[in-house]
Order: sequence, then structure tokens, then C-alpha cells
Amino acid sequence: MYVITGATGNTGHVITEKLLAAGQPVRVIGRSKERLDALVQKGADAFVADVNDPEAMTRAFSGAKAVYAMLPPDFAAKSMRESQDRASNSLAAALERSGVSHAVCLSSIGADKPERVGPVNGLHYFEQKINAIPKLNAFILRPTYFMENNFAQIKPIQSMGTMGGVLKPELPLAQIASRDIGAYAAEALLKLNFTGKSTRELLGQRDVSMKETAAVLGKAIGKPNLGYSQFPAFAVEMAMKQMGLPADYVKLLIEMLESLNSGWMKPLEARSPENTTPTSIEVFATEEFAPQFKGQAAGA
Ligand SMILES: NC(=O)c1ccc[n+]([C@@H]2O[C@H](COP(=O)([O-])OP(=O)(O)OC[C@H]3O[C@@H](n4cnc5c(N)ncnc54)[C@H](OP(=O)(O)O)[C@@H]3O)[C@@H](O)[C@H]2O)c1
Repeated sequence: MYVITGATGNTGHVITEKLLAAGQPVRVIGRSKERLDALVQKGADAFVADVNDPEAMTRAFSGAKAVYAMLPPDFAAKSMRESQDRASNSLAAALERSGVSHAVCLSSIGADKPERVGPVNGLHYFEQKINAIPKLNAFILRPTYFMENNFAQIKPIQSMGTMGGVLKPELPLAQIASRDIGAYAAEALLKLNFTGKSTRELLGQRDVSMKETAAVLGKAIGKPNLGYSQFPAFAVEMAMKQMGLPADYVKLLIEMLESLNSGWMKPLEARSPENTTPTSIEVFATEEFAPQFKGQAAGA
């Protein structure tokens, strides 16, 4: 049996569906039986538990052929870094105590850096905990910036008619559709052809600047002149806090975006067929962004 954490999330649901389609038994972890129900309907076995509970995670992982381990983001936490480390400690303890032989773990580009990469510092710590488990074969995925982050632009497009943020407009930015991470992780879990500890960056289909992103997303939503403006970090910080986002999370996010701008946070691997994934920003724009944009406009 495979065990999937974050099973209702962006990457977890794709992995679960692919493993089930391949005829594999899958245990899905989440905090709500109701939210797991769609996957149960497809044949998964629900395990309702909090990743911060090491005893529950040990029970969930026991007897697993392999585990997909990820740190669920807690945007509302007083200290996001503390909440990330709590989840890392719990998941690592459970992987070790359950004696699972293989795990695919979700990290990020930039997790090589011990500081100044915001939330990705939590993934640096997660990797350290995973790498310290003696008998575990761990394949650590380091995807780049998710295309789904662009959903946060829907409100600014609706209210200001433009996209905007801290990132430089012309910065070449590898962006990946989370479905491609799910597909890659599912394949690794099915093959289980990794031993020891290894990492693999996943860099999306190509690098796409925010200026190009705006043009592609704009075309998909019928706004061909949509642009992107870079705003000073303090202005973005103020706007995000006014939208009700917790100060701690906003501070970390801005640190990460500034590190992308400066080049401190960047992929280590040169682009290659091994780390390039299929979904383009154009496909994401028509299949994911435009429906979400129209849905939010209809619900507004
Ligand atoms: N956004 C980016 O650009 C980017 C880039 C690289 C890496 N990452 C990393 O990707 C990860 C997020 O992956 P994702 O997008 O696939 O996940 P996601 O869509 O954010 O989903 C999180 C999942 O975790 C579950 N969950 C939340 N809190 C939980 C808890 N306390 N106990 C048990 N389950 C819990 C949620 O289900 P329930 O709510 O039903 O429990 C949900 O299924 C993060 O670690 C992030 O740092 C993000």
C-alpha cells in the first residue's frame, strides 16, 4: 500500500489518482473525512489525522510500500517556520519509526540554502530531517515556482486591471504546473528505482517571466493587453496584510520573492529533458487559470 500525505492538495490528489489508476492500493491522509471522500469514492482508504501527530503518522505509514511526504503549509500559523519544523519533526519521526523503506518527499528549488529563502528554509530543514534517517531511501523533489501561485493575481486583475508583485517583470522564472509534480512523483513511486538519498529539481516546461505570464494569462481570459507591474516590497507587504494575510507569512513570502529577484534562490541544475516537465503556461492558462478566473468573477 502507498501512503499519501496532503492527498487532497495540488500534488497529492494527482499522485493518488495515478496510483489508483495503476491498480495500486492507496491510503490517503488528511484532516477531514469529507474532503478525502472524493478519493475514497475512487478506491482510496481514508486515514484522518494531523501530520503534526507523530504517533498517528507512524500508524499511517506502518506497512507502507512507500510514502509521499510533504509539508502542508499553515498560512495562519503565528510562526510559519515553527509550524513547518513541527511537521518535519513529526513526519521524519514517523518515517523512521515505521521502518518504511522508500519515500518521495516534496521540497523546492532553493532548499539548498539555509537562510534568506523564506518558507523554503522550512524545506531545507525538512530535507535535513529526511537525510538523517539512516535506512530510508528518499527521493527529494525540488520543484520550482508553481504556476498556481498566479491564482493570487485574480483579485488584482479584477480590482486594478493589472497583475503586480515583487518579482521583476523580465526575470526568467521557471514555473511548473503542480499536476506535473504529481505525475512525476507517481511515476517515481511506481518504479521505486531510487536508493540512498537523492534530489531532483523539476523546472516546468520553460522559463516564463512575469511579463510573459501576464500576456499569456491575459489572452486566455479575454484581456489581451494585461500587463504586469513590479511594486516595491513594502507596498506589496502592506497590501497583503490589508487583504488579511498573516504578517509572518507575508514577511517570509517577500523574503523568498526578493531572493528570486537577486538570484540567491535559483535552480542548481541546468535545464535538461530530465528536469523539464510537459505542461506549458499556455495550457495552464486555458485549462486552469481561465476557468478559475471566470468562476471567481461569477461568484463576486
Ligand atoms: N507554491 C510554490 O511555488 C511551491 C514551490 C515549491 C514547493 N512548494 C511546497 O509545496 C507544498 C504544498 O504542496 P501542495 O500544493 O501539493 O499542497 P496543498 O495544495 O497546499 O495541500 C495541502 C494538503 O495538506 C493537507 N493538510 C493541511 N494541513 C494538514 C495537517 N495539519 N495535517 C494533515 N494534512 C494537512 C490538506 O488537506 P486537508 O486540509 O483536507 O487536511 C491538503 O491536502 C508546500 O510544502 C510548499 O512549500 C510550493
